[in-house]
Amino acid sequence: MSVPLVPHHIAIVMDGNGRWAKKRFLPRIAGHKQGVDSLKRCVKACDARGVRVLTVFAFSSENWQRPVDEVSGIMDLFAIALAREVPQLNRDGVQLRFIGERKGLSARVLKSIEQAEASTASNHQLVLNVCFNYGGRWDIVQAAAKLNAMGLPITEEDINQNLALSHVPDPDLVIRTGGELRISNFLLWQSAYAEFEFTETLWPDFDEAALDAAIAVYAGRERRFGKTSDQVKPVNSVASLT
Ligand code: IPE
Ligand code: IPE
Ligand code: MG
Repeated sequence: MSVPLVPHHIAIVMDGNGRWAKKRFLPRIAGHKQGVDSLKRCVKACDARGVRVLTVFAFSSENWQRPVDEVSGIMDLFAIALAREVPQLNRDGVQLRFIGERKGLSARVLKSIEQAEASTASNHQLVLNVCFNYGGRWDIVQAAAKLNAMGLPITEEDINQNLALSHVPDPDLVIRTGGELRISNFLLWQSAYAEFEFTETLWPDFDEAALDAAIAVYAGRERRFGKTSDQVKPVNSVASLT
């Protein structure tokens, strides 16, 4: 069976907002605001191309270490953008899920998360997972802690089912914008067999053409999952050799 040319699930480390703003002599928060617009464009473009799950890294467990005014600016922006965008997301059939540690988030942010999740829960066109106060290590530890409380031997499938992204299959393609070649504690478990793409493009500049370029590179990859190339060749090309 051949691999679909469009990934079912794309995950993105949306990096480079601060540098986008700095290049324009703007405050970093202006870059984050532009980042929200870039995400809106990306959701529409993913849907139009047949991607069914989009997971984005919006705020990491480690991002609390940034200057207080940047953190509070991101929190404000998050709550405002959510309330503003939910009606359009509903019209587009987007189901919002928030992935991450909820303890430590303000009452205002928590309320906006809960309202957005409740209001979009019955949408099925595209699932948008927003990783917020998220870390891959946190996710593995919280899954292990839940299983440990049951006192049973732990299998790989048990961990799969208790991770915060258990409602969707693993990502097929992980994109990181902004030029850094690292994973920064994103989807550590779930990206075991994802294809990776790193682009210099800063997140606010990541447009439809950049998405198409990433999907085109993905389509040219051979996903072997531990097997040999011959084993995973599409059936047609094997038949044509015999
Ligand atoms: C990513 O952009 C967004 C968050 C981490 C919240 P950055 O803010 O990290 O942008 P750069 O890396 O400083 O350019
Ligand atoms: C990763 O970006 C987190 C998000 C995009 C939300 P960072 O900018 O925080 O990553 P590092 O610090 O460069 O590794
Ligand atoms: Mg960064």
